[in-house]
Amino acid sequence: MKKQTKAIRTQARQSQNREHSVPLYLTSSFTFESAEQGKALFEETEEGNIYSRFSNPNVTEFVDKVCMLENAEEGIATGTGMAAVFASMAALLKSGDHIVACRALFGSAHQVITQILSKWGITHTYVDASATEAEWEAAIQPITRMVYLETPSNPGLELVDLTMLARLKVKYGFILNVDNCFATPILQTPIDLGADLSVHSATKYMDGQGRVLGGIVVGRADLIQQIRFFARHTGPSLSPFNAWVLSKSLETLDLRMERHCRNALQLAEALDAHTDVERALYPFLPSHPQYELAKRQMSAGGAIVTIELAGGFERVKAFFDALTIPSLSSNLGDSRTIVTNPNTTTHAKLKPDEKAALGITPGLIRISVGLEAIEDLIADFTQAVEKSAEVVKEQVA
Ligand SMILES: Cc1ncc(COP(=O)(O)O)c(C=O)c1O
Repeated sequence: MKKQTKAIRTQARQSQNREHSVPLYLTSSFTFESAEQGKALFEETEEGNIYSRFSNPNVTEFVDKVCMLENAEEGIATGTGMAAVFASMAALLKSGDHIVACRALFGSAHQVITQILSKWGITHTYVDASATEAEWEAAIQPITRMVYLETPSNPGLELVDLTMLARLKVKYGFILNVDNCFATPILQTPIDLGADLSVHSATKYMDGQGRVLGGIVVGRADLIQQIRFFARHTGPSLSPFNAWVLSKSLETLDLRMERHCRNALQLAEALDAHTDVERALYPFLPSHPQYELAKRQMSAGGAIVTIELAGGFERVKAFFDALTIPSLSSNLGDSRTIVTNPNTTTHAKLKPDEKAALGITPGLIRISVGLEAIEDLIADFTQAVEKSAEVVKEQVA
């Protein structure tokens, strides 16, 4: 079956009420028909729900759908994307292990690696996204247990060649753990390219309408079982309500991504061609430094466009003031277009040299392109680019 059909037709078993749409199982626990059944469920000789920290029908449905979309053996859902990222590391790494990570990481993933895992004697080495195979290989040590990365990255839209890392994985035996949040399983399936785990902030495109938080890790059954043990006993569980929302949203993920990507490409082209925009970055623009890799690894460029405006924060302020449609928010992956200045918000806590290494400049703007009519978006962004250029010129004069 095609992904569209799987996302729509994978469903929790119907109850005796014969409902068409899956009901919300808003229950913290489940009853046992007998003492024997309680014993069997805890001994795991019988499969079934016990307590919603361990499993819940809505959560299971959401996990089953993502596994189908990612071609993964098993999965575990969590309350947020960061809980998924953290659980995938904390469950599988131990003191003395080493993690090789791509330098271009979401801010909180960077904090987990540098400030939290380090307290438990887990060391790390950062590698640039565009590093060659030899440079990635040079970072691997005998104690390297995991390679972790995002592709495309937030907010610099740098790509990592997954097939190349899968080759190194075969040689060195590390766990290849990929944050697939920006691409979604619709545009890229890391497991098909050799990754062991694919993690998501479901808060983003999986929900797609900015309503609920959620996260998920899917991949190799033996690894997911260890993450499940960790999650069962530490409790970062996804709520049934959020799982219900997310599972329903997956039914339209393919449709939404098609429009998101079409809008993003057209907006990127318009901004790239504008003389008052220093730089527009989008994986499917031929000017993107990793355009060939993007074409090989992804079926479309995603819905994030980053632009660089001259004039620093003053220009950003004038630009944001002039925009009439987009929302100013630090979130992304919404039906509503959102703009963010990473330097002063999502990546504000990075040190100056860390920002420089990631290309996070004062005039960088991340655009999460929504589902509005593209004509309206292009017109609004164009007038704001021009108006803000004028405002900054007047300030200088
Ligand atoms: C690439 C990426 N990974 C992980 C996260 C964390 O997700 P959450 O906010 O759901 O914890 C985010 C954003 O917040 C993100 O952009």
